Amino acid sequence: MTAAVRQRNSEIASPGEYLFTWKDFSEIAGLLYAMSGIHMVEAKASLMYSRLAKRVRTLKLPDFAAYCELVRDESQVEERSAMLSALTTNVTRFYREPHHFDHLRSKVMPRLAETARAGGRVRLWSAGCSAGHEPYSMAMTVLEALPEAARLDVRILASDIDPQIVARAAAGIYSDDDVDPIPSAVRSRHVRRVEGGWKVSDEAQGLITFRTLNLLGDWPMRGRFDVIFCRNVAIYFDDQTQNRLFERFSEQLHDGAQLYIGHSERAMNPNLKPEGLTGYRRESRRG
Ligand SMILES: C[S@@+](CC[C@H](N)C(=O)[O-])C[C@H]1O[C@@H](n2cnc3c(N)ncnc32)[C@H](O)[C@@H]1O
Repeated sequence: MTAAVRQRNSEIASPGEYLFTWKDFSEIAGLLYAMSGIHMVEAKASLMYSRLAKRVRTLKLPDFAAYCELVRDESQVEERSAMLSALTTNVTRFYREPHHFDHLRSKVMPRLAETARAGGRVRLWSAGCSAGHEPYSMAMTVLEALPEAARLDVRILASDIDPQIVARAAAGIYSDDDVDPIPSAVRSRHVRRVEGGWKVSDEAQGLITFRTLNLLGDWPMRGRFDVIFCRNVAIYFDDQTQNRLFERFSEQLHDGAQLYIGHSERAMNPNLKPEGLTGYRRESRRG
């Protein structure tokens, strides 16, 4: 290690109550990348500090070096998971990018409704579902187009790397502000007042299976999907990780199936052809 690197390592990455050096930043960023594919650039050092200082305080540690020592240990499964929860960005909302739900309802669901009514299997996936707003918006859109979906072979998988956020999603309870973007006709049918907020209908909830799943790890699902939503997730990955992910999605989609991504993302893959705004259609496999 050169003197310059040594000096840089000991410099403060972000000032605060607990000493947080560039060495600590690199170690935590490296661990986060290995665990999730999330690429945290140096400009995010103060964000990392503010999100993890609470963990350092809760654990009564003297500084971030002690926190690094703790999470370096692979057996610290719980604290590693807490670190991941603190560092992931979970911003989401119902009917985010409403054009995707319009497209799903008007362009994709008519064909899928026909398949389901003829006894076929229909599968949708919210990959990186955060607190559940996305998969519930998908379920409500499916039920609008296919009111009998619950009695047919129609399922939505909702997955996220963060078990805490998956538990919140599965609970399906939201605030007044959360439910505000749900179109009023859909809201009156699919959310009801409960103590502490609004609860998603059993009908919408019943279509969804919630799972903790790392998109970089193995995917245990058998069978292909008709629709995948993976929005505002790949944006946190580097180019190589994004390309690999889109390649895997293209393998996991049926011919002609639909992928939706976030408005600032691009899927660079020869098997995915643009369809709608930030949407892609899986090209037919030949032979
Ligand atoms: C900004 S939220 C997007 C939520 C929703 N898709 C939307 O667009 O509103 C990003 C989500 O991706 C999840 N995530 C990040 N890395 C992941 C990974 N490797 N595997 C699965 N989920 C991941 C985070 O936990 C977070 O909940």
